[in-house]
Formats: sequence, structure tokens, C-alpha cells
Amino acid sequence: MTKYKIATLPGDGIGPEVMTTAVSILEVLAESRGDIAFEFTELPVGDELKARTGIAMPQGTVEAIRESDAALFAAVGETAKEVILPLRQELELYANVRPTKVYPNVPSLKEGVDIVMVRENTEGLYKMVGHRGPDWGVNLRIITRQASERIARFAFEYAVRNGRSKVTSVHKNNVLDLTCGVFLEACRGVAESYPGIGYQEMIVDACAMKLILSPEQFDVLVTTNMFGDILSDEAAAIVGGLGMAPSGNIGEKNGIFEPVHGSAPDIAGKGIANPIAMILSASMMLEWLGETELSKTIETAVIEVLEEAETLTPDLGGSATTEQVAAAIEKKI
Ligand code: IPM
Ligand code: MN
Repeated sequence: MTKYKIATLPGDGIGPEVMTTAVSILEVLAESRGDIAFEFTELPVGDELKARTGIAMPQGTVEAIRESDAALFAAVGETAKEVILPLRQELELYANVRPTKVYPNVPSLKEGVDIVMVRENTEGLYKMVGHRGPDWGVNLRIITRQASERIARFAFEYAVRNGRSKVTSVHKNNVLDLTCGVFLEACRGVAESYPGIGYQEMIVDACAMKLILSPEQFDVLVTTNMFGDILSDEAAAIVGGLGMAPSGNIGEKNGIFEPVHGSAPDIAGKGIANPIAMILSASMMLEWLGETELSKTIETAVIEVLEEAETLTPDLGGSATTEQVAAAIEKKI
């Protein structure tokens, strides 16, 4: 019997609603297999916790995640800077992996899109180093060779492992040459040791346009923190919106898997949030844990439910609830 300790951080808004579905699907999966078990530990974080206790992320949260095999994070509201950003940096979850692909019956801008964004997750503008004066502000953009090489290597290794053929590194070296210069030098150096994988570079604004006009030309994208943040929402829009976009925050030892969407206060409590981004994040978690077959089982179940197109949440043009979608996916497992 393989047993995995999974930390869950449901957070705020629709977070707890979608987290419940992911936990329940993992439990159904474990039951149907018999040789695998999950032990869940819920870790409270976020706005609501802060309102009650004055603190958005209790001491011990980082340690609890460090000691678990993997973590699932749903969403927090205003306290993201106090919760998910410190988690990414303190646990050195340096790779933010965001697959973007077209699933059946999901309203998308183009067919055949299958992009993986590999976003540097620990530095750049997200270091939050700077100054604030009464009428001015400075945010320093910190880019190091070490972190750039590490993320470039991750992107190329990902490409090799997943049978992908091209890595595009996205930058703004025509303006931000001090920082993007370091990033590009690192990418070029790493690219040389992967002769079997194509390598190209693209300026971020051009990339933003080409993602809309011809997204099928992209394979793996690697970029710095803020560019990756912006481009990954754009890429999600191409394939049906944030309700379909999973992600993984991955380091050498730990991984936190989270939907790209936020806490969506406008629909919180209504039971209509699309749980698929969270469920696909759980599938990514299993893949990272080495449980490739179980990971595929979840993704296949999601695809079957999408193909039938009978149980879809309103963002996908249906009228089903979060729970109904989760139940339909569980039935396929
Ligand atoms: C994301 C989010 C976060 C980010 C916010 C909530 C801090 O937008 O995961 O993309 O900017 O990274
Ligand atoms: Mn974002």
C-alpha cells in the first residue's frame, strides 16, 4: 500500500468548494484502486482566517507542507501576497508549470492548442523589493543567472520528458536588457546542451499577439515571473478560460498544485464554480508524485465528461453545479 500525505489549503471564496471536489475524487480513485491511500491534512489560510485571527498564514504552514508529500492549494482573496507568494519563495517552488490545452466541447479561440508555460516562480518583480515615497514607487526586478538557468533547464527537461520539440524563451531584452540579458544568456547556454529540442526567442509583446493569432505554433514557453503571470491568463482565455487551467508550483523537494483562477468572490457560495481546473491540478500532482497512470485516469475521466457535454458548469455553457460535475467525473473513475 502506497500512502501519500497531502496538505490541502482550501482558502477563500470558491476555494473550499473546488477543493472538496478534488479531495473527493482522489478518495474515489484510492478506493477504486485499493493499493493506494491519501491522508489529507487541511491547512487554513487566507482572508477569512486573517479576519478572524489577524494572520493570513499561521506559523507552521510552510513546515507542514515541507513534511507532506505534496500539497493542493485552491485560492485566497486579498491575502495572496501573504500566502501563496511566500509559499512559492520559501519552499523554493521555482517552476510554475501551466499547461494550456484545448479540451473537447470547451469554447476555445483556436483548435490544436497545446502549450505549456514554464514560469520562473521565485524572483523578478515578485521579489517585492523596492521603496515607496509619497508620490513615487520603485519595484526592483531581480533576475539571477542561477534562477534563470534552473528554470531554463526545467523547461528543456520537461520538453524531453514529455516528447515536446520546441522551447520558446520570452523576454523584453530590447528594453530590459539588464535583467532579460541575464535570463537570455542562461537560456541560450542551457539550450546548447539540448540539441534535440528546438530553441527560439520571442519578445513578450509579440508573443502576446501571436498567442492569439497562431497559438498552435507554440510548444513549451519559458519566461520570467511577471511575464509568465500575464501570458498564462491570456493562454487560458484561448482554451476556454480560467476554469480549465491547472498549474503546479514545483521545486526540488516540494510541490503545490493549484488552479490558475482566484477565489472568484462574485460566484462564491453559489455552487457553480467550475471544479475542473482544481481537479486537473490534482491530476498534475499525481503525475509529479510519479503516479502517471492515476494522473491519466483523472484526466481521462474529465475528458469523457466534457465529451458527453451533459454536465458542464455555466462558464462552459452548461447549467450543472460544481458538485454535479465532480460526481460525473467520479462516476467515470
Ligand atoms: C497567479 C496569481 C498570483 C500571481 C497572485 C494571486 C499573487 O495571479 O498565480 O498567477 O500573481 O502569481
Ligand atoms: Mn496570475
